[in-house]
Amino acid sequence: MTPASRVCARAIARCRDLLRGVGIDWGTGTGLLAILAARIPAVERVVAVEYDPSAVAVARANAASNGVSDRVEVIRADLFAAFDPADRATLRGLEGRADFLLANPPASDDGDGLEWRRRVLGTARPLLRPRAVVLLQVAAHYGDTRIRGLVDEGYRYEGLVESSPWVPFDLGREDLRRALRVYAAEEGRGGLPYDFHLADGRRISAQEALAGVGDPLTRWQVHRYRA
Ligand SMILES: C[S@@+](CC[C@H](N)C(=O)[O-])C[C@H]1O[C@@H](n2cnc3c(N)ncnc32)[C@H](O)[C@@H]1O
Repeated sequence: MTPASRVCARAIARCRDLLRGVGIDWGTGTGLLAILAARIPAVERVVAVEYDPSAVAVARANAASNGVSDRVEVIRADLFAAFDPADRATLRGLEGRADFLLANPPASDDGDGLEWRRRVLGTARPLLRPRAVVLLQVAAHYGDTRIRGLVDEGYRYEGLVESSPWVPFDLGREDLRRALRVYAAEEGRGGLPYDFHLADGRRISAQEALAGVGDPLTRWQVHRYRA
């Protein structure tokens, strides 16, 4: 479990009164978020979407060992394009009916790093009921303008739900080193600066963090949007 996963788990607990009916957990990985949501009494069913076949198997096994396999349906899909015809039918059946969306997407290797989030929000939109709740993990280093700008995909921004304290943006992790290079390239193209902090409270850009100006800190966060 990454620090971002832990913040997502806490966000589900904090929003348990808002989660009901049928939900989607995009990029379920181990199934953690789908399983936590499925334990909420008002939640009937969670459709958990995952690309990696070994993660699909792990998520199914975890749902079974947590006693929620009757409420968590794990399907293999690329974004929302399911591989199995029965799973395609499941997603078609969700159109306009999903009450909530949970997503802790990876940073994208293109654009400003938020492209996976834009693709998930944009593709999920037709599946969601009006006013469906969306809990999306977006870390503080993206900056407020980018976080609020995600509403361009057809949502309303409702605010911060859960946050970690300032913690190291762990450059020992290969995925985070890659993400930092994506951010620095975006700044190099004239994009908005990223908002990393240092232990003494100073703020640094991604290019400064990449140049080794200091050890960047971030806050892992979950924000709430509404369809
Ligand atoms: C950051 S992990 C989150 C895992 C889990 N939801 C959690 O919070 O601990 C992102 C997940 O998205 C999955 N993923 C990446 N690309 C995907 C795609 N094109 N379609 C569906 N899932 C994808 C990854 O395999 C991974 O399990």
